[in-house]
Amino acid sequence: MARKKILVTGGAGFIGGNFVQYMVDKYPQYGIYNLDLLTYAGDLTKHKHIETKENYHFVKADIADRETILTLFEKEKFDYVVHFAAESHVDRSITDPGVFVQTNVVGTQVLLDASRMTEITKFVHVSTDEVYGELDFDPNTFFTEDTPLQPNSPYSASKASSDLLVRSYNETYRLPVNITRCSNNYGPYHFPEKLIPLTISRVLNDQKVPVYGDGKNIRDWLHVIDHCAAIDIVLHEGINGEVYNVGGHNERTNLEVVKTIIKILGKSENLIEFVKDRLGHDKRYAIDPTKLEKLGWKPTYTFDTGIAQTIQWYLDNKEWWESIISREYQNYFEKQYSSI
Ligand SMILES: NC(=O)c1ccc[n+]([C@@H]2O[C@H](COP(=O)([O-])OP(=O)(O)OC[C@H]3O[C@@H](n4cnc5c(N)ncnc54)[C@H](O)[C@@H]3O)[C@@H](O)[C@H]2O)c1
Repeated sequence: MARKKILVTGGAGFIGGNFVQYMVDKYPQYGIYNLDLLTYAGDLTKHKHIETKENYHFVKADIADRETILTLFEKEKFDYVVHFAAESHVDRSITDPGVFVQTNVVGTQVLLDASRMTEITKFVHVSTDEVYGELDFDPNTFFTEDTPLQPNSPYSASKASSDLLVRSYNETYRLPVNITRCSNNYGPYHFPEKLIPLTISRVLNDQKVPVYGDGKNIRDWLHVIDHCAAIDIVLHEGINGEVYNVGGHNERTNLEVVKTIIKILGKSENLIEFVKDRLGHDKRYAIDPTKLEKLGWKPTYTFDTGIAQTIQWYLDNKEWWESIISREYQNYFEKQYSSI
């Protein structure tokens, strides 16, 4: 029997990269095709240990390049698509929203067209809890799959737009789809512009750690490996057309997260520097993942075990994140953090 082919878009990024490694190791019977444009957030060095495996393939392409994508789908006849590729940083969407629409909306539509034309078996669209907007601080309220979409940032608006396109291709063309909406991920290979890796790298270098506003905004933290397992289950067991929320049951204020990292690394809280709040900063995200748990998924990491494992990974892989920071320094980090 011919080997099944899974196209993973954005497989050089943080979550897609972890997912590619997870799938290559777990399913030697599948061909895993990592398609990525290698933007500032893409990096292939993380795949050194799998790049010679015969079930791993890499394709450099832009998901919004219709001709290239249609030609590739016609040639390879993928069975499944797991779609991670996106512009993913809220701060960047505030300064430059255009590329978020191009990649997250137009790129998704191109992939949906190619999937429809080649009659794939399943399209899993990886989205975010940020499409639901924000919750207040009442700890008994959670996003469910029925919460109305109310995105507040250009990033979350572009993701919500792509979610609606995915839904419409299911309703209109009967394309078999699932949408997953997860909370904030953390773990190995997280790009060091996001809160947890930024804090770890700056604390290790005795640099000030910027915290937006009063630091009381709450996020739910999901270890990236638990997220990979969730997507694996949705890919194989998800009911056609359904949305699944993925959350870690790990709500923390941003300040608690920063203080935990400082404590584990044995440094002083004097490193914390409160900075002007992010525009339109959502107060709280929290997820009810009951629907996904009914498919047999459960997170395996608590925040305490996950953050300890993640910090150890950053200590063991200094070369990786230092090379990313030095590559990006002139472009972005200097502008963002030079005053701190
Ligand atoms: N990181 C999180 O906490 C989080 C939370 C919820 C949802 N998500 C979603 O998960 C997905 C992956 O997030 P991430 O944190 O791994 O992102 P990331 O920024 O680390 O990686 C994105 C990847 O997409 C690639 N890419 C960007 N534009 C492309 C294009 N036009 N064509 C092909 N490839 C392109 C980049 O090169 C990069 O490798 C995104 O869709 C994001 O919206 C992330």
